[in-house]
Amino acid sequence: MAKYNIALLPGDGIGPEVVDATITVMDALEKKTDIEFNYTTYMVGDAEKARSGTALPQATIDGVKAADATLFACVGETAKETILPLRQMFNLYVNLRPAKAYPGVPAVRPETDLMIVRENTEGIYKMIGHRSEKSAFNVRVITYKASYNIVKYAMDYAVKNGKTKVTVVHKANVLDFTDGLFLEAARDAAKGYEGIEYRELIVDAASMWLVMYPESFEVVVTTNMFGDILSDVTAGLVGGLGMAPSGNVGDNICIFEPVHGSAPDIAGKGIANPSACMLSAAMMLEWLGENEAAKLIEAAVLKVLVEGKTLTPDLKGKANTKEFAVAVAAAL
Ligand code: NAI
Ligand code: MG
Repeated sequence: MAKYNIALLPGDGIGPEVVDATITVMDALEKKTDIEFNYTTYMVGDAEKARSGTALPQATIDGVKAADATLFACVGETAKETILPLRQMFNLYVNLRPAKAYPGVPAVRPETDLMIVRENTEGIYKMIGHRSEKSAFNVRVITYKASYNIVKYAMDYAVKNGKTKVTVVHKANVLDFTDGLFLEAARDAAKGYEGIEYRELIVDAASMWLVMYPESFEVVVTTNMFGDILSDVTAGLVGGLGMAPSGNVGDNICIFEPVHGSAPDIAGKGIANPSACMLSAAMMLEWLGENEAAKLIEAAVLKVLVEGKTLTPDLKGKANTKEFAVAVAAAL
């Protein structure tokens, strides 16, 4: 029997709601398979900062380090004090953000099925800068090593997953120092991959191409902030943030998280779509080597979406978060 220690970081807003819903499904998975989960919940986010003075307590950092994998939901205003430092301190250098239109979901672009591979540790999110009263700057840090590693990861991901197109997104025409180096590293990393079509696009044009012709993309690899923005664009193509999972992947430590934030406009109403969190849990299972279990969760979510009887309001349904979770657990 496989047994996993999972750290849960529910955070703020809709975080606890979508994590509870996901645990309902994981409980059903335990009954169906010989996998067992041992959960430990840790504090993180705005409410924890208000309570204890820090948004990311040491016990939470230690918990993530000790766990087999972590499921992080979302925080509010303290993202830069929580998930950003976690990504950097554990060198979770890859942010995998799939955008896939599931049948049954009202998607703007149902033909979308792509993976955004976002560099996750540097760029303008290095949080180096200065503010004086009427002027301010943030420094964009790009290294050859991190750029090479992320593009290499994207190429290997394509090979492993039977994909043939990798698009590098950049702004080297203007950000000549930083993205000049990023592109140089990308071209080096992409050498020697027979059968993979390598293409480069400038980020503004890439945004238009993604919206107009998402089917022409398979793997998109880019720097930190471009990946952040483009992955919300692609989430919009496939039914919104309630449908967008992600994984922060390092060599040994991984944190899986829905792409969305704390959604203060719907928090506490019990109507958040927990699909993004459930699909993040499926990505977590895949990373743990439990491919069959990952597929079971994805298939159960898919079944409920296709049936269309128990959808949350963001998907034009009338069900609440709990009802959706119970339906997915039953589908399992
Ligand atoms: P958001 O992702 O929280 O919400 C954007 C819109 O999508 C809202 O209308 C919301 O209701 C909707 N939405 C998001 N997730 C949903 C779900 N599961 N089901 C149904 N609808 C959903 O982004 P927003 O409003 O820009 O930011 C709110 C707070 O979240 C801010 O304080 C921001 O800093 C934080 N944030 C945190 C992130 C994280 O924890 N990694 C990521 C993004 C934002
Ligand atoms: Mg974002």
